Amino acid sequence: MNALGIETSCDETSAAVVAGDAALARTLSCVILSQDVHKVYKGVVPELASRAHLTALAPVVDRALEGAGLALDDLDLIAVTEGPGLIGALLVGVSYAKGLALATGRPLVGVHHLEAHLFGTALDDAAAVPPFIGLIVSGGHSLLLDVPAWGHYRLLGATRDDAVGEAFDKVGSLLGLGYPGGPVVERAALDGDPVRFRFPRPMLNARQKPGDADYFDLSMSGLKTAVIHAVRAAADPAADTAHLARGFQDAVIEVLVTKTLRAVEACGRTRVVLGGGVACNRALRAAMAAALEARGATLHAPSPRLSTDNGAMIARAGLFHAGEAGRSLDAAARLPFPGLVRA
Ligand code: KG4
Ligand code: ZN
Repeated sequence: MNALGIETSCDETSAAVVAGDAALARTLSCVILSQDVHKVYKGVVPELASRAHLTALAPVVDRALEGAGLALDDLDLIAVTEGPGLIGALLVGVSYAKGLALATGRPLVGVHHLEAHLFGTALDDAAAVPPFIGLIVSGGHSLLLDVPAWGHYRLLGATRDDAVGEAFDKVGSLLGLGYPGGPVVERAALDGDPVRFRFPRPMLNARQKPGDADYFDLSMSGLKTAVIHAVRAAADPAADTAHLARGFQDAVIEVLVTKTLRAVEACGRTRVVLGGGVACNRALRAAMAAALEARGATLHAPSPRLSTDNGAMIARAGLFHAGEAGRSLDAAARLPFPGLVRA
């Protein structure tokens, strides 16, 4: 089956063609157009995102078909991100996908963006399959999941406040490094002294035990406040930028690695699948891989291209749900999404 995947939930206009079935798939093409306009505003402006999707989506879909060497008629399925995301931005993708489905007579499958991030890694890495622990860390969400099988998700923990990527973005702009914060904070941290600033590790306490409400949950707002106070207290914040970035990033990484190891242990898994934009962070990947290796487990992280929002992961998730006749587009957009239960 050839599936077209359309992603417009935030600030990437993307379309891709993925061929395969529910179990196995390969990417035939993937076009990702990142919207630069938001850099000027240091954050995504929803209305501008919708407008940019509107002008970009048709040519992006055309390019994806061209790249796959296929015509519209060769498609068997159209998959689209139904949510979560910016409502106006989602509307552009969903309306376009509905139009394509109507015109071609092909089935339309609504996909949950976070479930798709779990599938994304498997497109590049055939071993990134259940059972595994999934850690999705993006600009809007942070989820720790146990995945015994595709379509079955046990929510272990989530952020109580800011998402991890959002915290990177806020610290990036606080340090005057620009937007999005993740890549620039990571780059600055390379020159940072790891002991100059030691920030709190939120919701991390050696006395926590399985069953405690915060054993798996994350929180970023206190850490962000600690960075703000450190910036205010610094005599010359500009001279400390790299050290502040390093201190912040180290705190985030220690929390993520520890919570993930807890999940691996509690659920008896040997694989961890990382997803979402923060999965691009090389320091996180290295620390996570080393910690898992020491426990006999392996890390499966997507390539940088598939870490960011893309249509290929949407098409892949669409192939998995292809057989679910009448899968409601609305049902796909909620959290918990179909198949996800709280552990
Ligand atoms: O998954 P994604 O592309 O979009 C959402 O669904 O939110 O994630 C974007 C987020 C942004 O907050 C960005 O700062 C973060 O991913 N990010 C990073 C890195 N690259 C992107 N965070 C940390 N380190 C990075 N290298
Ligand atoms: Zn995403």
